[in-house]
Amino acid sequence: MKRRAYISAVAHYVPEKILTNYDLEKMVDTNDEWIRSRTGIRERRILEPGKATSDMAAEAVKKLCKVRGIDPLEIEVIIIATVTPDMFFPSTGNLVQEKIGAKNAWSFDVAAACSGFIYALSVGTQYILSGTHKKVVVVGSDKMSAIVNYRDRNTCVLFGDAAGAVLLEPVEDGDIGIMDFMLFSDGSGADYLKMKAGGSLFPASLETVVNDWHYIYQDGKTVFKFAVTRMAEVSVNILEKHHLSGKDLTLFIPHQANQRIIDGAVKRLGIDYDKVMINIDRYGNTTAATIPLALSEAYLQGKLDVGDLVLFATFGGGFTWGSALLRWGIPKPKNPIQEEKK
Ligand code: UT7
Repeated sequence: MKRRAYISAVAHYVPEKILTNYDLEKMVDTNDEWIRSRTGIRERRILEPGKATSDMAAEAVKKLCKVRGIDPLEIEVIIIATVTPDMFFPSTGNLVQEKIGAKNAWSFDVAAACSGFIYALSVGTQYILSGTHKKVVVVGSDKMSAIVNYRDRNTCVLFGDAAGAVLLEPVEDGDIGIMDFMLFSDGSGADYLKMKAGGSLFPASLETVVNDWHYIYQDGKTVFKFAVTRMAEVSVNILEKHHLSGKDLTLFIPHQANQRIIDGAVKRLGIDYDKVMINIDRYGNTTAATIPLALSEAYLQGKLDVGDLVLFATFGGGFTWGSALLRWGIPKPKNPIQEEKK
């Protein structure tokens, strides 16, 4: 008997408030043309004050239960990928468990920056494959606006807030489900993308606050160089391992950090743009949320049907990077929503 984990439901949540490139022009020395041409981003969402990562995750998981037609009490595990936990501890997973009333679930967080969702998906998949659990929720949720310095034009134009969630369930002897993961880390990249303070090395102090060490820092050029190589490489390698090529894919869902990094991977895969899910223009980089958010929108837009071959790929702080290959298992929605294009 061949058991696989499959994504039996997907949902997302984005805050209502939109921060456009034109809004940012009034805050820092930047302009719409620079942001669009260098990143592909036109706007991003910002969560309201007083709300946190767990609130967005809870909304996404509530929707997930609704679309799958299950009670939160049926969830057995909740795994949250995030770099912006509500607080160091308890875990954001615990807070989500309480907010949605998933009293029978145990919960924890995974930290792997922009690769967090794929890492967490690989963890959740193991519980299904081992047969110990049958309903595992995996969420990518980040309130990046909480750690972005809106005086730093190098980073504040890039990030946004969002959450995306999937439900993993077992499927026996079928072709659908998650086929494989390729995951990598390179800690020598740690200094190029980080939030320096707030942890045990530099606990909050006057010095850490004055020096802006509680905000995200990125050496964009160096990260870009690694990202463009690694994301393309890990996308091609997982396909080759399975004797597949870009031509076999129905949909490629890359991490949405920069349109030009996506372009690099698309070129290496040799696929057409109509097979690539891109929503960076509307949301920016939502860190752990980009892939489940893009997956949820792709599904709602009718881009996926049972048996379709889907590839996820990511690169992020750490450095961390990876890919996941799967055959989609949910029938196309009866009334797909129109893709938003501006
Ligand atoms: O998700 C995790 C992984 N993260 C990534 O993959 C991000 C990777 N990096 C990138 O996407 C790009 O490096 C950025 C979008 C962050 C920056 O693009 P770039 O083409 O590498 O620009 P740059 O940093 O080399 O800056 C070019 C110029 C600089 O001016 P000078 O030194 O040439 O005079 C910057 O000061 O653009 C300037 N600049 C800006 N100008 C207007 C930087 N940010 C801005 C801005 N508006 N927002």
